[in-house]
Amino acid sequence: MRRSLLDWYDNNRRILPWREDPAPYHVWISEIMLQQTRVEAVKGYYERFLKTFPDVKSLAKAKEDEYLKVWEGLGYYSRVRNMHRAAVQIAEEYGGEIPASYEELKKLPGIGPYTAAAIASIAFGECVPAVDGNLLRVFARMTGWRESIAETKTKKAAERYFQEIFEEKTAKGKTGSAARNVPGDCNQALMDLGAAVCLPNAQPLCEKCPWKKDCVSHRNHEETAYPVMPEKAARRIEAKTVFIILTAEKALLHKRPARGLLAGLYEFPNTEGELSRKEARDFIRLLGLSPLRIKALEKAVHIFTHKEWHMTGYEVRVDEPEAEEAETRKRLHRDGFVFADRKDVLTTYPIPSAFRVYSDHFLHL
Ligand code: ADE
Repeated sequence: MRRSLLDWYDNNRRILPWREDPAPYHVWISEIMLQQTRVEAVKGYYERFLKTFPDVKSLAKAKEDEYLKVWEGLGYYSRVRNMHRAAVQIAEEYGGEIPASYEELKKLPGIGPYTAAAIASIAFGECVPAVDGNLLRVFARMTGWRESIAETKTKKAAERYFQEIFEEKTAKGKTGSAARNVPGDCNQALMDLGAAVCLPNAQPLCEKCPWKKDCVSHRNHEETAYPVMPEKAARRIEAKTVFIILTAEKALLHKRPARGLLAGLYEFPNTEGELSRKEARDFIRLLGLSPLRIKALEKAVHIFTHKEWHMTGYEVRVDEPEAEEAETRKRLHRDGFVFADRKDVLTTYPIPSAFRVYSDHFLHL
């Protein structure tokens, strides 16, 4: 099975930027980005990230707003926050060298069993399967596995299953080949097989599969019955009112708290509930600002994993707080508010895609 998998990979492998030079730092960044995000969406982010932070040291030195800005739009921002913490630790405790084993890698912030296995195998050739959703789906279909893929025992069983295949002896009795990185290629072959053949949410393309003769669910014509997915909790719906508060050239932004959803990112000031025009004016006054004109904006919906924001928006013109209103300025600053022009919005402040409709509106005013 290992032979047929690697032959398939040699003929079908995708050309991807992080595969060109699988240095540990490159593999690490790409694997973190590829969690929860499609390959096509990752490519541009990957190039930009490497240009901005070419190595562990430069990432370790980055400021919060800088690394969040490069991640802007990718979502799950704790991923990059943890990467930064790990980079600081690698710089301080490992002399800037990414540790070279599965067990050491797993000790770093944000590096769980999957990421540790991906880096250890692809960058260092260690024989460990990197079990993500793709491999779980392949495993569940190959074996007709009836438990949910969210179960720990499913992950363990998948790890054992693939480990055995990775360690299969070749015809000549060798487990490896000097010419290639067998564990790294096996993992990436399975990722590509999962993405191109053993498709999720669709009829898999079994005729193209190198393992079709060994596949239990294919033999039984029940490929789409697998994998068994965990039940999803319903998403909570939250109503919000979002404000584009404008002075002559700038809009007011607010830095979100250091903990919780979208921690440390910048947002357009907003509050819970769908506010009327009158309530909106009162909200602006509570910030210590004087609304001049107020205009309703289009509504927007943003879907997170566990909740949905259903947003109403207002564009509000205000007088820029004058020097004599030093108190207001000081309080806004202390509470995490900043006035940002269009260039700041584009290049300096990380604003999550949840606010895309409103940041686009500001940029096109
Ligand atoms: N998905 C996650 N990691 C990947 C990789 N290294 N190549 C392709 N797809 C992936």
